[in-house]
Amino acid sequence: MRTLISGGTVVTAADTFVADVLVEGETIVALGHGLQGDTTIDATGMYVVPGGIDVHTHLDMPFGGTTASDDFFTGHRAAACGGTTMHIDFVIQPKGASLREAIDMWHAKANGKAAVDYGFHVAITDLTEAVLQEIPDCVELGVTSLKVFLAYKGALQIDDTTLFRTLQQGARHGLLTMVHCENGDAIDILVREALAAGHTAPVYHALTRPPQLEAEATSRAVRLAEVAGAPLYIVHLTEAGALDAVRGARGRGNQFIHAETCVQYFFFTRDDLARPGFEGAKYVCSPPFREPSDQQALWGGVADGTLEVVSTDHCAFWYEGGRDGRSRGKELGLGDFSKIPNGCPGIEDRMMLMYTHGVGRGRISLNRWVELCCTNPARLFGCYPRKGVIAPGADADIVLWDPTARHVLAAATQHQNTDYNLYEGMEVVGVPRTVLLRGRVVVDDRRWVGEAGTGQFIKRGTQPAVR
Ligand code: URP
Ligand code: ZN
Ligand code: ZN
Repeated sequence: MRTLISGGTVVTAADTFVADVLVEGETIVALGHGLQGDTTIDATGMYVVPGGIDVHTHLDMPFGGTTASDDFFTGHRAAACGGTTMHIDFVIQPKGASLREAIDMWHAKANGKAAVDYGFHVAITDLTEAVLQEIPDCVELGVTSLKVFLAYKGALQIDDTTLFRTLQQGARHGLLTMVHCENGDAIDILVREALAAGHTAPVYHALTRPPQLEAEATSRAVRLAEVAGAPLYIVHLTEAGALDAVRGARGRGNQFIHAETCVQYFFFTRDDLARPGFEGAKYVCSPPFREPSDQQALWGGVADGTLEVVSTDHCAFWYEGGRDGRSRGKELGLGDFSKIPNGCPGIEDRMMLMYTHGVGRGRISLNRWVELCCTNPARLFGCYPRKGVIAPGADADIVLWDPTARHVLAAATQHQNTDYNLYEGMEVVGVPRTVLLRGRVVVDDRRWVGEAGTGQFIKRGTQPAVR
């Protein structure tokens, strides 16, 4: 079965050109003019872009005394409706479990539900000698990135010994180490002090996680990665000091230091956590939202290449959970900000927001948008050129992007499994109209037509050696 996508403008990270795209089965087989297919999808007036790849998500994750509300079906449907056809989720090693057991647990969560393609990183929380020896085996399983948290003391946080040994072992075997950079020990003290002083409102989440503690942890991770000669990926970078730490490493010639930000950090500030009543809880995530000057710094970072990826850290919770069949949500933190589950939804919104506020406002080019949201994620995480590009031989993960269509982001119309949308009422210009996953239409004229069980686990490749 050959499908011709005709009359559109193909956009890649490098080029923009008018061409038809011929798909055979699950694969792109040709780009050009005068091609023939068995069926045709008219892409006149559309950009034809690679499916988005979101490398930072938490679906069905136990966290903060509850479980994230989007699972591997609802989260996938939302992703596809937002133009994202692959994501990489974090397997979290339960303390005492092997990495293999943890990865198997996450496969069980996705099996039968997956509706877009997906991969896994594995987060190490308990680095025993046996776990250290297991790291190379992850490559065989197609899990080629590790993660550690320098925050969440008493839960996910690891120490510098674990960080350094993970970096070393990862580097020896071609795995990329990803790090959540905040100083969890200092945060823990500030949180205790705030609560003792009777400061319980959501805004204290931000006030007890100041930017200096992100800058410090980022510099530490960067310097340790340099000593270990290890590829490093800083997740959800939010502020100017951390950006300087990454720029410093690149300035020293260390091209193996990578960093992402997440879309929400361009839009919200600490003031959003101080919204009236308990509304601020919707905006509680870690690291927290910063200052307008940091937002400007982040736009600078994506424009100059310091930040190579924009992901979401999609980790949805209900605002009013714990009833009507909902898992517990943000209400867990009524009366104590430290009990608000950390995380925000966004897997559906990312591509539209970056197009509207990045491309539409002249902050980034059309090609840079594709590079940040589709191509660099594939390159950095070992699945390029199978994913992240419109080219012969690539999987036919294709989005027909309507650059002039308007859409208002809202909880009532979203597919994300939660009762709020961070961007409620915000209009975007530019939406995914048709989405193909390996040649199969999963979104047709903005309507979900996909199916649970059709998403595939993607085994990913390793990193180039640093030295
Ligand atoms: O608040 C956040 N970011 N929740 C998800 C876990 C993490 O730190 O990425
Ligand atoms: Zn994190
Ligand atoms: Zn995260």
